[in-house]
Amino acid sequence: MKLRNLILLSYGSALLLVIVIVFFSVKYMIFQPDIAYIVTLIMVIACTFAFIVSYLLFLPTLRSIRKLSSHSNKLAEGYFEKIADIHSPKELAELARDFNHMTEQLEESFNQIKKAEDEKNTMISHLSHDIKTPITSIRSQIEAILDNMVSDIERPIYLESIQNQVMRLSQLTDELLDLTITQENKKHKLVIKKVWIDKTLVAALNSFQVQLKVEDRDINIDLDDKISFIYSDEEGINRILHNLIANALKYSLPGTPIKIEGTVYEDAIQISIQDFGMGISEEEQKHIFERLYRVEKSRNQKYGGTGLGLYISQEIAKILGGNITVKSLLEQGSTFTVRLPKKLH
Ligand SMILES: Nc1ncnc2c1ncn2[C@@H]1O[C@H](COP(=O)(O)OP(=O)(O)OP(=O)(O)O)[C@@H](O)[C@H]1O
Ligand SMILES: [Mg+2]
Repeated sequence: MKLRNLILLSYGSALLLVIVIVFFSVKYMIFQPDIAYIVTLIMVIACTFAFIVSYLLFLPTLRSIRKLSSHSNKLAEGYFEKIADIHSPKELAELARDFNHMTEQLEESFNQIKKAEDEKNTMISHLSHDIKTPITSIRSQIEAILDNMVSDIERPIYLESIQNQVMRLSQLTDELLDLTITQENKKHKLVIKKVWIDKTLVAALNSFQVQLKVEDRDINIDLDDKISFIYSDEEGINRILHNLIANALKYSLPGTPIKIEGTVYEDAIQISIQDFGMGISEEEQKHIFERLYRVEKSRNQKYGGTGLGLYISQEIAKILGGNITVKSLLEQGSTFTVRLPKKLH
């Protein structure tokens, strides 16, 4: 029953009780009938007046209850709105305060769960992307061996490269497994140690051996004499170089060279990978590091890609205390430069 009807019922019953008492009083001669009429009339007026006053006094309470009810419905739909203006009665004001506290806690938990879920999804898409690259490379190297395209001297180099790729795959699947085991997994587990730049570069290039040979590519490497090692995460750097080299090959024509330059600064090193391919317009350069961004869909249907490579690489570069920048001219080519600190603190 509605609160308003409840008040009406209570005053109605009080009035009825008075009428019954007056009726019996007249019957047993306690009251004169004239007085009984007056008493009944006064009672009717008094009860109506009391009802109106009570109803008016109860109005704010009714409004507060309605507000609590509508906010609870909104909460159930996932809107974490707080109640701002319930001040009376005191009990409802306290209830509203508790409700706000509960909303705050729920919103916090909800955001935490959502963040963990988003991070997990991002990680899964990163890992799926990175697993794809070594598989393609292993497949092409095995095909080359099976088609007798590889000489006896080259065979051990190919096998070593396949072994490296398999080890990389194993690392990536470990990460994937970690992810399913624990929610608190971070984006990338850093293993900070001495990383030799030339060695890492050769390892990254090794997985493209077959493609470089088939496409008849020249790789011009020009490393600063003083470039040696940095303290960083080798797997992370490998992933960056891999993605940048893969792009340089994907977005330039077979037969065109790739230029790799290494420079040392006081507290950082820089590696740039230059291709002489299709280039990227100035407008597009602003977006290519965004997640899932691909320049012109048609261009990418042709080249096949998910638009994750640069996003992942930039994320890793940031985790490693550095960044990746791009310089490019349409139809002339692009240079992607990764800068990393000599020591990751
Ligand atoms: N060297 C390059 N030359 C020209 N365009 C490039 C180059 N590198 C990247 N791009 C453009 O930037 C976009 C984003 O690159 P990104 O590596 O993130 O994705 P993708 O190569 O399309 O897919 P994948 O996730 O397989 O790497 C590409 O779609 C491509 O259009
Ligand atoms: Mg790519």
